[in-house]
Amino acid sequence: MKERIAEKFRTLFSEEGEFFASAGRINLIGEHTDYNGGFVFPGAIDKGMIAEIRLNGTGTVRAFALDLDEYCEFGLNEEDAPVQSWARYIFGVCREIIKRGGEISGFDTVFAGDVPLGAGMSSSAALESTFAFALDNLFNLGIDKFELARIGQSTEHNYCGVNCGIMDQFASVFGKKGHLMRLDCRSMEFEYFPFDPGQHGYRLVLLNSLVKHELVGSPYNDRRASCERVAAVLGQEFLRGATMEQLEAVRDKVSDEDYMRARYVIGEEKRVLDVCAALEKGDYETVGARMYATHWGMSKDYEVSCEELDFLATVAKECGVTGSRIMGGGFGGCTINLVKGELYDGFIAKAKSAFAEKYGHEPVVIDVVISDGARKL
Ligand code: GLA
Repeated sequence: MKERIAEKFRTLFSEEGEFFASAGRINLIGEHTDYNGGFVFPGAIDKGMIAEIRLNGTGTVRAFALDLDEYCEFGLNEEDAPVQSWARYIFGVCREIIKRGGEISGFDTVFAGDVPLGAGMSSSAALESTFAFALDNLFNLGIDKFELARIGQSTEHNYCGVNCGIMDQFASVFGKKGHLMRLDCRSMEFEYFPFDPGQHGYRLVLLNSLVKHELVGSPYNDRRASCERVAAVLGQEFLRGATMEQLEAVRDKVSDEDYMRARYVIGEEKRVLDVCAALEKGDYETVGARMYATHWGMSKDYEVSCEELDFLATVAKECGVTGSRIMGGGFGGCTINLVKGELYDGFIAKAKSAFAEKYGHEPVVIDVVISDGARKL
């Protein structure tokens, strides 16, 4: 990928730049908890974005998206916003840096990635954090790492229409090889957890349903609004910390839909903590049981699953897979599966054939390795 980028960069800009990269993420558990002030448990993966960048001394950014074979040029003022959605991520990062007082100017860039788009693996966070990290480095801005993550998050809010939480950008910036991170999204304290399922005889694999997930303008923002309404009724800033009893007590003051959504979030809060405790004991069976509970909570209460992902989780269960669930924001994308080594081949074969028979194509198998986040190459 790096060679292809370099070749295109030389052709377009007849110079050489510096290389920066960042990562997509998985999330073991803790879905839709981030914007509720709760816990998440993600890790960066060995798939991400790479960009070659060179400052060009003008006020213009000249960018080429290698995977899409598209070029775009834009200035750095608010009114210069490009129309291409991929370019808006880069533009948004520039604007958010400028809004925070960072002095930046134009640059040339070619970038490419290997995180599948719309698969719930945070391709957009990988793009944002690559550029946030790179611009901080190239312009010597001295921005702290949490702020780099927030720059990506604000880009989503202000330029891409998704009121996301902080999980994806956090994972993409802070990711560390061989470690998951438990982040408390209220205090922003986090802890690295060594994670090596192989050592315990398990494998982690994603199955991409290829149902495109599109969070922009999607019911994602509605879910967040539901949670905020219930939190307000409870007199809290976040749903975090609320109990089922408290929720029951206000049941007639919230809509049925908001009630179900809050019920999912409150349950998920507890599941993340259970999973962390189980992992410390090497108890992967409990980890897996909670993953299934998350899946069905996301499907029935939070209503962010789809038929194809429910089907994959069901097949996993039938094959004796330890844990399986929809991963990320939902509405399509992947399941994340924790499977005993000896069951792996049988599960993959069955998932492929059963899915293909029903939906006309196989799910794509993605093996992930927990890796480092944003960095200079
Ligand atoms: C998307 C968002 C995250 C998070 C997840 C669901 O990936 O970007 O902030 O809310 O969905 O856990």
